[in-house]
Amino acid sequence: MTRHNATLNLSKTIDRDADIIVLGLTAVGGEPTLVGAVGDVDKSYQKAYRTTPRALALSLGASTSLESTVVLPPAGARVVVVGLGDADVTADQLRRAAGSALRAVTQLPDGEGLKVTVSLELAAPELIRAAAEGALLGAYEPQVISSGEDKPKVSAITVVATGRGDAREAIDAARVVAESVCRARDWTNTPPNLLTPALFAEQARQSLREHRVSVDVLDEKALDKGGYGGILAVGGGSAHGPRLVRMQYAPRGATFHLALVGKGITFDSGGLDLKPAGQMAGMKYDMSGAAAVIAAMQAIAALGLRIKVTAYAAMAENMPSGTSYRSGDVMKMFDGQTVENYNTDAEGRLVMADAIARAALDEPHLIVDVATLTGACMVALGMRVGGLMASDDVTADRLLDAAEAGGEEFWQLPITEEIRSQLKSSVADMRSGGKNRFGGALAAGAFLQRFVPENIAWGHLDIAGPANNEDSAFGCTPKGGTGVGVRTLVALARQLAS
Ligand code: BES
Ligand code: ZN
Ligand code: ZN
Repeated sequence: MTRHNATLNLSKTIDRDADIIVLGLTAVGGEPTLVGAVGDVDKSYQKAYRTTPRALALSLGASTSLESTVVLPPAGARVVVVGLGDADVTADQLRRAAGSALRAVTQLPDGEGLKVTVSLELAAPELIRAAAEGALLGAYEPQVISSGEDKPKVSAITVVATGRGDAREAIDAARVVAESVCRARDWTNTPPNLLTPALFAEQARQSLREHRVSVDVLDEKALDKGGYGGILAVGGGSAHGPRLVRMQYAPRGATFHLALVGKGITFDSGGLDLKPAGQMAGMKYDMSGAAAVIAAMQAIAALGLRIKVTAYAAMAENMPSGTSYRSGDVMKMFDGQTVENYNTDAEGRLVMADAIARAALDEPHLIVDVATLTGACMVALGMRVGGLMASDDVTADRLLDAAEAGGEEFWQLPITEEIRSQLKSSVADMRSGGKNRFGGALAAGAFLQRFVPENIAWGHLDIAGPANNEDSAFGCTPKGGTGVGVRTLVALARQLAS
């Protein structure tokens, strides 16, 4: 199903057969200055145009402002000049700049299978990694389902860097992480008729086959036997039954046990509490949390991180039908607690609650869940920042640090007593939502926390906003599915690994 990504290589010099050369522009002493292996490029531009690429770029409006791009007329290879922002360029600036430069390449009117060399004077491994990651992520093009051929614009990316062994390691790590992010993007972009829970579960299994990860898929029958009342209720209205995928990576020498849980609603119509058409349109993206968790698992195993990780992807399609669950239904969840259903469109927290309760049985040190959970989180934080809630501030800080290392944005929200008290029910142990729409993201978080035992740390990432970029692309983020969460989860695993 996935198309192949561009290859990623490391080189000390600019490839002679490069079709495109990416150089940076930054301000040195107030003067815009080209960054990269400029010497070679200077010669060919002098020969072709009797001017420097710098002068040409400036005359075409090139700017040092981060992510701005200008494509120069060809002199052998074509040069793309990208703004790197302020001097003392950080890893995040490099990731975004490289992403913008490669996207500019994907938008060139002609050419396919292009070989791109990225030359940005990189030496420190973390900078090499960020630039390489950004380049691969920026080269991503959503798959087109077509009878014709769907050829990628960029076939190879070469990063010019001066380091030695650690530079190669940085490139390999960048490749693993970026490929996993692209895998998550591909899944989220897949139309919902082509990614039912059963198909998604099968693809999860396939994607982990060559890694040291064990995969178990629970189907309706197994879910029924196991008492997964939340997942069964939500999946009950669809002709395509629900699945719970359990994945485990347990390398030798690991001391920390991390559990990941992802929301995998392959389509969220709202159920009997049907969404209006305008709000239903993007609901194929409602499985982004599950995609992030599976893709992160793939990367963690491929990197060989010394940490035990058990991941769960809770997959269901939320549809209205004669077998749908209703508002007012009382469900018995996996851990035995009962829930009065408040709205059939608040389905994510029900599948997540079962999966979190199941994850707790494995006795991990920390459970992190990822879900496109609430529209309220988008009201609070906009489309580019995810919400973060946690059992304690140490866990919250760990996740914020991981997000920063991965180049993703989250903001901590509280879980307040006011909101917790709104989950009281007179007919069951709890209700699945608050009294009104105020603090809706917190109510969902408060509900999930009821399924986390006190002795296990817990973090919750609400990615309803950043999972799907409805605007135009920016930095290394494309239009459509973004693969958000993968980089944060991999960075977290890296930090917790022994
Ligand atoms: N999948 C949605 C949340 C969502 C909304 C994600 C928009 C991405 C974009 C979730 O299942 C949902 O419908 N939540 C409801 C909850 C409400 C009924 C309590 C919401 O946010 O409106
Ligand atoms: Zn919903
Ligand atoms: Zn949903």
